Amino acid sequence: MIIHLIVAARPNFMKIAPLYHELARRECIDPVIVHTGQHYDLNMSEVFFQDFNLPEPHIHLGVGSGSHAEQTGQVMIAYEKVLEQEKPDLVVVVGDVNSTVAATLSAVKLGIRTAHLEAGLRSFDRTMPEEINRIVTDAIADYLWTPSPDGNENLINEGVDISKISHVGNIMIDSLEMMREKIASIETLGQFNLEEGGYGVVTLHRPSNVDNLKTLKKLCHVLSDISNKMPLIFPVHPRTSKQLEKTGYINLLKGSKQFTLTQPLGYKEFMSLVMQSRLLITDSGGIQEETTYLGIPCLTLRENTERPITITEGTNRLCRHDTIMAMVDDILAGRFPKGKRPHLWDGKAAVRIADHILSIKEKGAA
Ligand code: UD1
Repeated sequence: MIIHLIVAARPNFMKIAPLYHELARRECIDPVIVHTGQHYDLNMSEVFFQDFNLPEPHIHLGVGSGSHAEQTGQVMIAYEKVLEQEKPDLVVVVGDVNSTVAATLSAVKLGIRTAHLEAGLRSFDRTMPEEINRIVTDAIADYLWTPSPDGNENLINEGVDISKISHVGNIMIDSLEMMREKIASIETLGQFNLEEGGYGVVTLHRPSNVDNLKTLKKLCHVLSDISNKMPLIFPVHPRTSKQLEKTGYINLLKGSKQFTLTQPLGYKEFMSLVMQSRLLITDSGGIQEETTYLGIPCLTLRENTERPITITEGTNRLCRHDTIMAMVDDILAGRFPKGKRPHLWDGKAAVRIADHILSIKEKGAA
């Protein structure tokens, strides 16, 4: 069975890694990594192949950056040609980036079976590009692998046939467990002059935060204020970096005494920082999940989340520039609620997925 695993942007690499390794272990499965090229910098792409011991992508579409339509259209055109030649038995797409929906459209239109890993998540906010990608991908993919029961409920509410849905658990936890020893073996705090449990980690890259200059300015001010209370370290995403440089707000952060700005980090280094931190300030999806699993307070600078289980069961709370300080104070005073780990966030999602693939093969469906 030839299975294409589509990767494109930073969060995709860690999701595909445990699945690639599990599928490669199965005798009759030949996993093929297809990189669309949406992320191309060393520290946004290649470093994750090294960290997770993944082979070089077998196929590279070389698409790169562009507007939404350009990126989506170019992936569709390039991948359609590959599909016609390679004729895989199954295409697996992950997450919610432009390449996820693009590869799904190309495959489904050629009648090639397609599975969506991390299906069913909904923020119910259609101004988010990722929400559109999620809705379209789930509407047309053949197999929908969900991380949590809310994913199943959302799909059923949208009229999806229940036979397409499988609750497989959260693959990001597989990635973390796969790498736990390696993460523990590296030393990161010394190089950044940080102390275990005594600092916060910041990540921001959503268009709603960093492309809106008024919001970005307010966020820079409040982050600077928070850094007066505890050291903050901020690995800056390329989109955010461009905006901070363009507006000069970078100087506000650079001028704050306990504020460290770095390039985007590899998985091991980044997770090492997360695991030893007091709190996270983020707008990322994956970090909301990782902190819930690790029991670390996470303050998410968004109006909504497609991962509500991280709030109802975990350590995640939504906040804004004008509410975040009170939450930081609560955490520092030990008043933040402890969460629990959601069901099937256990490091075994890849095994369940591989078993599911083999069961559909036996039924002759893929
Ligand atoms: C994309 C995904 C988002 C995901 C994020 C993770 C979509 C719609 N968005 O957003 O869901 O959370 O990846 O990072 O698919 N750039 C570089 N080097 C790179 C990659 C990008 O400099 O390796 C620059 C691009 O030139 C572009 C900007 O960063 O200007 C944004 O890249 P893009 O892929 O369009 O979207 P992200 O913001 O990364």
